Amino acid sequence: MFQWPVECYAPCAIGLERFLAAELESLDLGPCAISRGGVGFRADEEGLCRANLWLRTAVRVLVPIHRAKISDTDSLYEATRQVDWSAYMRVEQTLAVDASVRDGAITHSQFASRRVKDAICDQFRERSGGKRPSVDPYDPMIPIHLRIVGEEMTLSLDSAGQSLHKRGYRPIQPKAPLNEAVAAGLLLAAGVDSSKPFCDPFCGSGTLAIEAAHRAIGRPPGLNRKFAFQSWIGHRRELLSALRERARRQMLAELPAWVLLSERREEVVDLSRQTVQAAGLGRFLEPNCLDARELDLSGLEPGWLVTNPPYGERLSNERGLMPLYHQFGTRLAQMAKGWKVGIYGTSGGLAGAFARGLGCRSIENHAILNGRSVCTLWLFKVPA
Ligand SMILES: C[S@@+](CC[C@H](N)C(=O)[O-])C[C@H]1O[C@@H](n2cnc3c(N)ncnc32)[C@H](O)[C@@H]1O
Repeated sequence: MFQWPVECYAPCAIGLERFLAAELESLDLGPCAISRGGVGFRADEEGLCRANLWLRTAVRVLVPIHRAKISDTDSLYEATRQVDWSAYMRVEQTLAVDASVRDGAITHSQFASRRVKDAICDQFRERSGGKRPSVDPYDPMIPIHLRIVGEEMTLSLDSAGQSLHKRGYRPIQPKAPLNEAVAAGLLLAAGVDSSKPFCDPFCGSGTLAIEAAHRAIGRPPGLNRKFAFQSWIGHRRELLSALRERARRQMLAELPAWVLLSERREEVVDLSRQTVQAAGLGRFLEPNCLDARELDLSGLEPGWLVTNPPYGERLSNERGLMPLYHQFGTRLAQMAKGWKVGIYGTSGGLAGAFARGLGCRSIENHAILNGRSVCTLWLFKVPA
């Protein structure tokens, strides 16, 4: 199927690229080529399995298989037919084509993906006596990614399948949870040291604390999920099972330091409890029902508090939240001396209210996109 090693590209949320590159390097998958929204690297088959299993901040791992210049959907169709698709999939396997298009004559991504799908199916139909693969838009065995920028098109196999942020630990999908890959990226951007205590006092469904705990015990984010590469022709199943086996053996049996999570609304605490259980962390994490302004960390050695408090979509909501941020800052100044704090949100005004309450300015900030929202992680050190 491939001549290993292959060129790979891992997309991520804008703002997380250098943290993803650091993850790749620590997996011995460097050197990396950082671009906006993703990182390129090379991997052999085992490295590709490791990237999917271990990357916390990437959302996919793509393997480009064909590049061409195109000017319209007809040339896109012809370029797609230049690939021998029987090298990458069998006719009885399902496929789906997902597309992103920008700056070119083709503006409609759904139309572009339909043309690619038609070209693949037509090629199979002609070569396999009228048989063609079926499309499964929800759970395809062979997901294909099309990217068009201007006249350049790239066709890639998506080795992950379902986005890598889907770790498989959400029993119920909450309304607006923090994306798991973004949560993992915030921990890296904040420089969280897993051997020190961690706290999220606005935990919602618990994403930040769960990601912090998984990282602390060395649990790979992809431990229990399936990946599209498992359906690839010639995939050696023993590679992934050996990697999983080794990861299970090496995972810590205990957390190296406290991971605390709390939240004001009882029903949300229930949800976080269920999520913690589904994440296999029921023994370690106990979500509490608590107003963040009553948090008490004074008995603990200083650690990291990373959180995304409620933020108003509109200015009027934002004004209403100013006292909460200010009072929370004041509370931390009293009882979290020496802690590092990361506040993730959209509003510089609210971060300013927090800073005034805390009595010091942020020491660093990182713009990190959350879906379509432009958010910032403001980092503080509570004066000792
Ligand atoms: C933006 S959400 C956090 C989402 C979370 N990161 C997740 O992954 O689901 C903010 C959370 O803060 C909670 N909250 C609001 N005011 C609070 C307060 N005074 N103390 C503690 N929690 C509060 C809300 O109920 C909400 O669940």
